Amino acid sequence: MIEQFKQDVDAGLSADNKFLPSQYFYDAIGDDLFQQIMAMPDYYLTRAEFEIFNQKTQELIDSFGIEHDSFFEIIELGPGDGKKTKKLLKKLLKQNYDFIYHPIDISGNVLNQLEESLNDEMPELNTRPKQGLYFDALASLKKSDHKKIVLFLGSNIGNLDDEQAADFLYHLGSNFRHDDILLLGVDLKKSRDIILPAYNDPQGITASFNLNILDRINRELGGNFERNNFSHAPEYLEDKGVANSFLISLAEQSVYIKSLDKTFNFTKGEKIHTEISRKYDEEILQRIIADTDFFLDAKICDSKAYFADYILKRN
Ligand code: AVJ
Repeated sequence: MIEQFKQDVDAGLSADNKFLPSQYFYDAIGDDLFQQIMAMPDYYLTRAEFEIFNQKTQELIDSFGIEHDSFFEIIELGPGDGKKTKKLLKKLLKQNYDFIYHPIDISGNVLNQLEESLNDEMPELNTRPKQGLYFDALASLKKSDHKKIVLFLGSNIGNLDDEQAADFLYHLGSNFRHDDILLLGVDLKKSRDIILPAYNDPQGITASFNLNILDRINRELGGNFERNNFSHAPEYLEDKGVANSFLISLAEQSVYIKSLDKTFNFTKGEKIHTEISRKYDEEILQRIIADTDFFLDAKICDSKAYFADYILKRN
């Protein structure tokens, strides 16, 4: 874990165009900041997808094509607090479907909290959390011969570039049986006026979230980043549908990272690319799934059509 972090930081800060992988935002402090982001008025993504799960629950269920008399498994990659999914689970229970829910997360903490709240709110729910990497956990579930419905919500796929997303979906599909389903939540391409504020809130929560990656390097790798010497800078490329986050060096400076025993130099204005938040439309998604055997079966949007949950099935 720490070895991988060291390698990734070294590779990213040694590159001509410096970058840090966005997965490293999520330590305990980053998890907490992301919770705060999801509660911000400008971060419309969470509320838009919640609206879908809250108001179009039946549409979601109908799109699954499930029978009351056959057992199935719902597998969720990165469930967070489960607020959206609970709407779906409650309705399925009410309608007497026979299923088990497997939330998968790398964080045991997230899973424990979720399991507790599920026991509280839906004691009759059959839940079995799996702690670990998505694909390790999926491989262990692959052996089952029940129908699987895999949830990957919140536009979490948007942190991957299109090539990585295509690889991810290809790999995911290889763990699927023929009639398994993917429910993929994605943020849709739209005007900069709506997207940019979601990544540039006036309270500076997103800035803290972005800067936390430098603090984490300091904490875990013995770095001496001075966070006041960097500033959070998001951009949205409207034509491409790509939001990027950067940390900009506010001065010429060097940073020493003890566990690498290396110094990294920054010019004034030099950027570290820390995150991509891809925005989608049909054309982009079709291109991404072109080499997989998934096809887009249905699209369910919120009332403003900001966000979509796509149902992907297999040829
Ligand atoms: C969790 C990847 C969906 O890109 O919108 C929020 C992360 N970064 N604010 C996103 C994030 C800055 C978020 N995802």
